[in-house]
Amino acid sequence: MRGCARYLVCCLLLLSTLWPAQPVRARHAMVVSREGHATDAGVAILRAGGNAVDAAVAVGFALAVTHPQAGNIGGGGFMLIRFSDGRTTFLDFRERAPLAAAADMYLDATGKPTESSQFGYRASGVPGSVSGFELAHRRYGSLKWPRLLAPAIRLAREGFPVSYDLARSLRSSTALARDAESRRVFQRDGRFYEAGEVMRQPELAAALARIASVGSRDFYTGETARLLVKAQREHGGLITRDDLAGYQAVERTPLVGTYKSYRLITAPPPSSGGVGLLEMLGVLDGSGYEREGAGSAASIHFVAETMRRFYADRARYLGDPDFTHVPVAGLISERYTAGLRRLIDPERATPSDQVAAGRPEGNESDQTTHYSIVDANGNAVAVTYTLNGSYGSGVTVPGAGFLLNNEMDDFTVAPGVPNMFGLVQGEVNRIAPRKRPLSSMTPTIVLREGKFYSVLGSPGGSRIITTVLQVFLDMADFSMGLQDAVNWPRFHHQWKPDVLRMETGFSPDTIKLLRARGHEVETVGSIGEVSAIAREGEWLAGAADPRTAGKASGY
Ligand code: DON
Repeated sequence: MRGCARYLVCCLLLLSTLWPAQPVRARHAMVVSREGHATDAGVAILRAGGNAVDAAVAVGFALAVTHPQAGNIGGGGFMLIRFSDGRTTFLDFRERAPLAAAADMYLDATGKPTESSQFGYRASGVPGSVSGFELAHRRYGSLKWPRLLAPAIRLAREGFPVSYDLARSLRSSTALARDAESRRVFQRDGRFYEAGEVMRQPELAAALARIASVGSRDFYTGETARLLVKAQREHGGLITRDDLAGYQAVERTPLVGTYKSYRLITAPPPSSGGVGLLEMLGVLDGSGYEREGAGSAASIHFVAETMRRFYADRARYLGDPDFTHVPVAGLISERYTAGLRRLIDPERATPSDQVAAGRPEGNESDQTTHYSIVDANGNAVAVTYTLNGSYGSGVTVPGAGFLLNNEMDDFTVAPGVPNMFGLVQGEVNRIAPRKRPLSSMTPTIVLREGKFYSVLGSPGGSRIITTVLQVFLDMADFSMGLQDAVNWPRFHHQWKPDVLRMETGFSPDTIKLLRARGHEVETVGSIGEVSAIAREGEWLAGAADPRTAGKASGY
């Protein structure tokens, strides 16, 4: 008996040393991104006296070199900033549809969707990243612009050792395999890179050097624009000189909401992410969903039912706010979310066919990457940007060495037809010239009792919003430390298809209980890749996601 007790004590001691999972800690500043060289570039900028926005621009350009799956100059995204004095802003550099785009451009003669919204030259929206980074720097940066591009140029020119993760990804990409220029740039003499081999990208280095010397002008009206438009013309793409010359990133007001003692600052439309996060938190607040604990069937069920209802609203109401009225205030209002809460049966899943979008007031009528930065002055930046699918359209601009996005697939290609992420979307997100496709990217900053608490975000297409939601809930409602919240298994429901997707790591008993409540459960590999920072007293904690080869580093 005594031996047994001793054994139990040993187990507990062992557990307490393994658990909670430890983040990286630093006193002053922190960068967390999906790739180590890019994180290091950001930390170097911070150490050189740059602020969090400078570092965000440098990390963005570096990822375009070292994480070509998603890091980009040929895509777009969002940057959320909270300055240490409490001001906030949101930079929207989402791609826009070319002028020649049309609602039915991806349907064949019989009205069926083709794959050209996902692969090849016609899949791309007008890229926004270079304009976005320049706007961020011009308004809020402090170091000189060329300094911010220097690490990326060096990584592209001198090369960097290909990681195991990148080597595996390059080898398995069907997008890259379809395009001769992509094969030339992302293979070495006709064979795949092995981990440890040095990858150089001289054309990309030259394009970045031009951007460093003349700014975004090169990308939108200069030599890089010329190369991009020439390639588009030769391969049946739609992007013209006018499209590029007419692109400009814009600044928007972030969305803000509260949950218990937390204040969340997050992404407004054309992202559906912030609306989703706040709508779902509104439903959960006061529901008592958390009573049976993290990972319990009861809590997963209630959260999944909440998710299901938001995604029905997403399809009905959310799109580019410059083209359509989006009833944001109605969707996140207490009255509306309380109404949704009452519709949830805590014992039984409601089939998605019986769930339609609600009636909020004020309604008149899948590769991405996220990084988080906090600087020594307490400024926080969250960037999620993307080519959409892994390596985007698969097309590399000849002579300029960068991949183009396939963001057009985020539009409703045909109502009722699922997109790359299985999302069934609505009329409100149909294609129109210069329109921005609806996004799920959810860069988010959380305050607790008025003070900076956390900055986080994730890739994952439609799963981004539910990933950010769960990491936040795990910290706020289940008292997990940052790294545990990031590590904890995740689940996802998006209304249609009517499937509850669950990562491995949930107990088989829990899954059985969820099935008994009427959920169709499917086990999936992984959901999201979070890069997050949280304040822990005098310290900053940085958490990369163990599902990836990300890196947190600070000083
Ligand atoms: O903006 C969006 O919602 C999508 N283009 C994001 C794509 C994505 O996260 C893919 N990553 N796994």
